[in-house]
Amino acid sequence: MRATFSIDKDKVRHSFSSAVSTYDSFASLQRKVGLELLNKSESFAEKIILDIGCGTGFLAQELFLKSLVKQMIAVDVALPMVQATKNKLESEGAVQYICADAEKLPLLEGIADQIISNLALQWCQNLTTVFKGFKRILKQDGQILFSTFGPATLQELKTSWAEVDCYTHVNNFYSVDKLILFLEQADFRGVHTEVKRYQSKYRTVIELMRELKGIGAHNVLSGRNRGMTSKAQMLKMVNAYEKHKVNNFIPATYEIIFVSANI
Ligand SMILES: C[S@@+](CC[C@H](N)C(=O)[O-])C[C@H]1O[C@@H](n2cnc3c(N)ncnc32)[C@H](O)[C@@H]1O
Repeated sequence: MRATFSIDKDKVRHSFSSAVSTYDSFASLQRKVGLELLNKSESFAEKIILDIGCGTGFLAQELFLKSLVKQMIAVDVALPMVQATKNKLESEGAVQYICADAEKLPLLEGIADQIISNLALQWCQNLTTVFKGFKRILKQDGQILFSTFGPATLQELKTSWAEVDCYTHVNNFYSVDKLILFLEQADFRGVHTEVKRYQSKYRTVIELMRELKGIGAHNVLSGRNRGMTSKAQMLKMVNAYEKHKVNNFIPATYEIIFVSANI
C-alpha cells in the first residue's frame, strides 16, 4: 500500500509560515492534545529528544518545565516557526533548532532517545519514509510518541463541502490501521495506539474557518481547487453546515490518534 496522500509541500511551508503570529491564539486544541501526549511517556529525564513539527514551541517548553531533559532538538519545516520556538526557549541552553522536512532529516544516525511530535505528521507526504528516517536517528532502545489526526476529523466540514462540489476541501487523514502498517513497514515494534474524539463548538461556520486559517491548517492536497472559491459556493457550504447545528452551536469533530512505538 502506498503511504502517501499527494501533499503540496510548498503550500504546507507557506501556510504555517504565514500563521506564525496567529497560531498561539487559536491553538487551544493543539495544546490540550500536546499535554495528553506528554502524559503518555513515563519520563523524559536525561534524554535527548527530537520535537518534529515544533510549531511555536509549546511542547518543547512544556518538556523543559516538566522534566530534566538532557537535550532537545526542535525541528520544523517552516522557518518562522523554528524562530518562534527559539524565542520561546531563549533561556534554555540545551536546545538545537533545525529548519528541515521530517521526510529528509539532516541528522546523524542513532543520536536521539525519543522522538515526539504533536499534530504535525499529517502534513507529511510519505509516512513510511518518515518512520524509516526516525528509526535511523533513534538510539537502539529509542521510542517514538506522536499524535495525529484521524479520518473523522472535520467530517462535518467535509460533508458540507460535498454538497457544493467534487473538490477535496479538507485534508485526508490516515486511519489507525494504516498508521500501524506504515510503522511496521519501517520495522517499528510494540506499536500502541489510542483514539480519542474531541468536539469543538463555534458560534458560526466562519468562526471555525477563521480558526483553521489562524493555525495554518489550509487544504494542502494537490487535488484541491486551485481557483478562488466564490461567495455563492461558500454560502452554499455554510448553509449545508448549519444543518449540523446542535443547541445553536456549530460542532467540529477532531479525531486524535495517539501512537507510541519502539525500535
Ligand atoms: C499544527 S502545527 C503543530 C505545532 C506543535 N507541534 C504544537 O503542538 O503546537 C504543525 C507544525 O508541523 C510543521 N510541519 C508540517 N509539515 C512538516 C514536515 N514535513 N516536517 C517538519 N515540520 C512540519 C508545520 O510547519 C507546523 O509548525
